[in-house]
Amino acid sequence: MRIGVLTGGGDCPGLNAVIRAVVRKGERTYGDELVGFLDGWKGVIEGSTMPLDVERCRGILPRGGTILGTSRTNPYKIDGGPEKAKATVERLGIDALIAIGGEDTLGVALKLTNEGVPVVGVPKTIDNDLGGTEVTFGFDTAVQIAADAIDRLHTTAESHNRVLVCEVMGRHAGWIATCAGIAGGAAQILVPEQEFDIEKVCQDLLQRHKKGRFASIVVVAEGAKPKEASTVLQSGELDEFGHVRLGGIGEVLAKEIRARTGFDTRVTVLGHVQRGGTPTAFDRILATRFGVAAIDAVHDGAFGTMVALRAGAIIRVSIAEAVAELKTVDPGLLEVAEIFFS
Ligand code: F6P
Repeated sequence: MRIGVLTGGGDCPGLNAVIRAVVRKGERTYGDELVGFLDGWKGVIEGSTMPLDVERCRGILPRGGTILGTSRTNPYKIDGGPEKAKATVERLGIDALIAIGGEDTLGVALKLTNEGVPVVGVPKTIDNDLGGTEVTFGFDTAVQIAADAIDRLHTTAESHNRVLVCEVMGRHAGWIATCAGIAGGAAQILVPEQEFDIEKVCQDLLQRHKKGRFASIVVVAEGAKPKEASTVLQSGELDEFGHVRLGGIGEVLAKEIRARTGFDTRVTVLGHVQRGGTPTAFDRILATRFGVAAIDAVHDGAFGTMVALRAGAIIRVSIAEAVAELKTVDPGLLEVAEIFFS
């Protein structure tokens, strides 16, 4: 078969590991010819490709980013986009597509599948907020990076008797904040799932410091909202999937904590550091298993499905199920985190 592969949306550690696995099993087991589309759906619309073979994939397993490039291009927001994408598939003699992406990329995959393009999905996002799978690859790496950063913030916060606010990624779900916060012993974790009361946060910090502690780490997800205001925006800019560029909640929070408690409060925004660099061993293994399962799904003709992890096993779920609802943080996990707040 001649199979196209693309990576869409924000990049994520483990993308190259998926590509490598798809190519290895496709070429060596099935005798497939693999074609890489450049920059996500943009490459499918424009017909820009690169050849993918085992030789080209040597050494990419531990490399962050994606050798195919990525973008947030949405064919359904471009005049004639879906038609152009379908024409490319037809013209290049592509028998099937493997789309590696999150909710947005797979949302497009679902629409194209419904219009007759055979697509198999692979779940990707550091945010871990995609439905249908217990975990997405990239999340473990992001949590490890954030937990390492929190460890470092602890020692400097203690030396200076400071409150340090650490802003992490998480647009709609606070998985990174919650898991890195638990792993790093945060004094407060603020997530998009629960609007926070700034006065309560400050009172908790005052109580904690009265008990003899001199430093606190507050972890806040970029999409967390104070009860009294809406999402803090960095800019009014929207991407093609209609998402605003977030950021700035850390600054707002630090200012309020400083004013209400008198504690010297500073902010660290982790930003894209969480997405760059080498994947953890867990993510390399998960990405490899997903890649192998995706090429198998193509050969089984399981189009419109996404490979997923459930109870340790790789299974197939429908892309429709995966993108139907965002996977938010389990309230039980938030309760575990709260035990350590005061
Ligand atoms: O979708 C993953 C994500 O990491 C979000 O947490 C974050 O809001 C967004 O990407 C940032 O994307 P970009 O790099 O395109 O601004």
